[in-house]
Amino acid sequence: MGRRKRRVRTQVAIIGAGPAGLFLAHLLARAGVDAVVVERRDREYVEARVRAGVLEQVTVDLMDRLGLGKRMHREGLVHEGTILAHDGGMFRIDMKGLTGGSTVMVYGQQEVMRDLFDAGEERGVQVVFDAEDVALHGLDGSSPHITWRKDGVEQLLDCDFVAGCDGYHGVSRGSMPESVRREYERVYPFGWLGILADVPPANHELIYCNHERGFALASMRSATRSRYYLQCPLDDRLEDWSDDRFWDELCLRLGDRAAAGVTRGPSFEKSIAPLRSFVSEPMRWGRLFLAGDAAHIVPPTGAKGLNLAASDVVFLAEALEQHYLEHSDAGIDGYSARALARVWKAERFSWWFTGLTHRFPETGPLEHRLQVAELDYIRDSRAAQTTLAENYVGLPIS
Ligand code: APR
Ligand code: PHB
Repeated sequence: MGRRKRRVRTQVAIIGAGPAGLFLAHLLARAGVDAVVVERRDREYVEARVRAGVLEQVTVDLMDRLGLGKRMHREGLVHEGTILAHDGGMFRIDMKGLTGGSTVMVYGQQEVMRDLFDAGEERGVQVVFDAEDVALHGLDGSSPHITWRKDGVEQLLDCDFVAGCDGYHGVSRGSMPESVRREYERVYPFGWLGILADVPPANHELIYCNHERGFALASMRSATRSRYYLQCPLDDRLEDWSDDRFWDELCLRLGDRAAAGVTRGPSFEKSIAPLRSFVSEPMRWGRLFLAGDAAHIVPPTGAKGLNLAASDVVFLAEALEQHYLEHSDAGIDGYSARALARVWKAERFSWWFTGLTHRFPETGPLEHRLQVAELDYIRDSRAAQTTLAENYVGLPIS
């Protein structure tokens, strides 16, 4: 057992240095509120995780507001539309035209994390890495604290508030008593097999494809790096998916027109991820707030995960600023309802878009014909395209 050696104090203890935790730390630093981020892994691990790649306007604005947008605007790819494909047909959703000018930015989460960490070092954002056995205490009182162990030494951090930004598998959500929590969950009966390869993308915009063999997505990280996904059974094993098999299956599902743009090459990352819709309510209990994946998961089809983490912490930072700078707790009291209102709309969109584009093992020919009818309807209806576009580019912060 290590000795209890260090006892320090801050205003806000942030658990987890993923996008939610680091965006929050930057927002609080900018407002002059003290915070310490406590992260279980090291920086290299957090930064190297291959995750999302599409930033909504809200997240682009946040990067800009924090003065972190320079590299993103230089290296990121602005997408004004996206493509839907099915049964060999393809059509475009003109997101910019349909939303009065909104677009999305293709810029990988790894790049966002690098920018946040680099600027964090310059701005004195405090992050404790390699924190083992993080535990939260006194959340229903007026002076909570958190504890952890680092290099064998017990650490204690007194604080006013705890922000649980520690993802789906973190400790924060479980630190709320079960009696106050309500969880909603759906696990989808398939996964996404994803690869990264240093080859030019098939198309300059993303292609979401519904095919009888399953969903396929042609995405990218840059003009020279492609990201592709295939819907696959949950029990598929990576060793059964050689690069050749992946490229063959991708081209089959994309159809001749889109497949003509595919450049094959060796993959340098390959993984299978499950798909889940999950919300835990409320997002605040006593002095604990949840933000990002700690409170909710969306299936990746709508590219909403990272963006929801960003909007949660925008709301949370506003609430904490009001507490410290205006001495009002209205924002704190309203945080959960405000964040959840946006979360549920993104959950709905991600669930709907997943249903539209994937083949579900339990459904039959009728459901498939309904999918085709809906895709045809979207192709032919400006109203339906507008609905898709305004959700895809991200609903406003309200
Ligand atoms: N103690 C300290 N840190 C922890 C603990 C713990 N017990 N458990 C998890 N963490 C850390 C993880 O190591 C990770 O760095 O919390 C961080 C959570 O980060 P994410 O899982 O990325 O969650 P979030 O910041 O909410 O981001 C949500 O970004 O990563 C994507 O798929 C994710 O799109 C979603 C969005
Ligand atoms: C990705 O590039 O990783 C990506 C893009 C769009 C999605 C999901 C993932 O909807």
